Amino acid sequence: MPSSRRGSGTVTLPTGQLLAVHTRTQDEEDLPHATKKTMADHLRKYESLFTLTPQRMRMIVEAFKETLELGLEKPEQVVPMIPTYVFGWPTGKETGDFLAVDLGGTNLRVCLVTLQGEGKFEMTQTKYRLTEEQKQEDGQKLFDFCAECLKTFVTTNLEDGTLKEGDTLPLGFTFSYPCFQEKIDHGQLIRWTKGFGAPNTEGRDVAAMFRESLRKHNVPVELTALINDTTGTLIASSYVNPRTKIAVIFGTGCNAAYMEQVKDIPKIKQLGIDPDAEMAINCEWGAFDSFEHEHLPRTKYDIIIDEQSNKPGEQAFEKLISGRYLGEILRLVICELIDDGVLFLGQETYKIEIAYALDTAFLSLMESDPTEELLMIIGIFTHFFALETTLAERQFFRALAKLVGRRAARLSACGIAAIVSKMNYLEEGCAVGADGSLYNKYPGFADRVHEGLQDVFGDKGRNIVTYHAEDGSGVGSAIIAAMTKVRKDAGLYLNV
Ligand code: GLC
Repeated sequence: MPSSRRGSGTVTLPTGQLLAVHTRTQDEEDLPHATKKTMADHLRKYESLFTLTPQRMRMIVEAFKETLELGLEKPEQVVPMIPTYVFGWPTGKETGDFLAVDLGGTNLRVCLVTLQGEGKFEMTQTKYRLTEEQKQEDGQKLFDFCAECLKTFVTTNLEDGTLKEGDTLPLGFTFSYPCFQEKIDHGQLIRWTKGFGAPNTEGRDVAAMFRESLRKHNVPVELTALINDTTGTLIASSYVNPRTKIAVIFGTGCNAAYMEQVKDIPKIKQLGIDPDAEMAINCEWGAFDSFEHEHLPRTKYDIIIDEQSNKPGEQAFEKLISGRYLGEILRLVICELIDDGVLFLGQETYKIEIAYALDTAFLSLMESDPTEELLMIIGIFTHFFALETTLAERQFFRALAKLVGRRAARLSACGIAAIVSKMNYLEEGCAVGADGSLYNKYPGFADRVHEGLQDVFGDKGRNIVTYHAEDGSGVGSAIIAAMTKVRKDAGLYLNV
């Protein structure tokens, strides 16, 4: 006799849609279901696959730290440790109007930011959803789209008097993909990440490509800085919370930035910058352990995701952590159990067998389901996949979601710990500005990162505290544009 699937209620989906959930008790006899014991046995297996011990974490941190140092020492390393030409921290006194375009993993955002000084600002913004096709079509077309959106935004703000006719506003372009920078308003795309694949872009200067689109569409702006979202987050967070030393993004992608001493970036020695100056580094740590796969505990599900991605071998760390992949990891485990005849016998499973059908947002809903009957999970499975579940199965899915989410948070802690350890921030402690859908919306993600930091460092791990960061791609990019203007007006390092 299968365990009860009875229950009814409503569930709010991430889309805002309200879903009524009813389970029909008469179905219970119809379908064969795995017993509670079988599910518990399987869970034990996955527990050992997805659990990271403190000892293993410390080994990862050591390897990570060495990789970061290597990236600073030599050019063209797997983790590229990109010098950003953002010199030091903001003073908090930066003021003025700035435009920002943010081409992230999921959306395109256009903002007008007014910095008012004393850590204060105002912002107006418009968001556009990027389609999967746009991510794959010609790169210049993608930048044309960004220019068109910016043009509409500028025109609207001119019409309502927010902007003045004849102004040429400085523009910060947040382009959150790894770019090798020779100076602050230049960036050669090393490789697309986060599922983007637009041809004719890798290896080219994306700032120049965007300038070309801006010229074509006659947009009255001047691109003054090309910025990574992590660098923007670092600067924006420090603008409002000066204890911030590190910024991390846990969203569609995963990456970090921090402030380094120029003397500790041997690969830019030839530029003749004051060795005591400071410069923000965009780590691009999502690439940690790419190609060689020596350090990270990859399961066979991670390997499948990697091999079926548009960039096999690349972004190895990111593929275990970021929101783009977590739902897919869980889905692959479920599919394995379907193939093994454990789950959903006698039911049509084709809907859940579609790659990426299980969004990471579902994972967090599954974990946070407050009802005893796990109504949220019933809702997800019946509505999206037309599948009936028993309570034992739902409990299993929730536990599995926890394992996958917890592993991601603990690996994230390893990355943070590597920077903390490299920069000797542990004793004094520091704040870590964090942003991204995973960090902001996944219940318990931050707590698990903190728990992970304590597993690596012991009690002192409590000195490292993450908090929800300021909007790096909008506000951060404006502050960087302002800082750059001040620097250039002062005649400092005009060549970068
Ligand atoms: C990817 C990008 C990186 C970005 C991160 C978070 O890892 O390569 O540039 O910072 O996603 O958006």
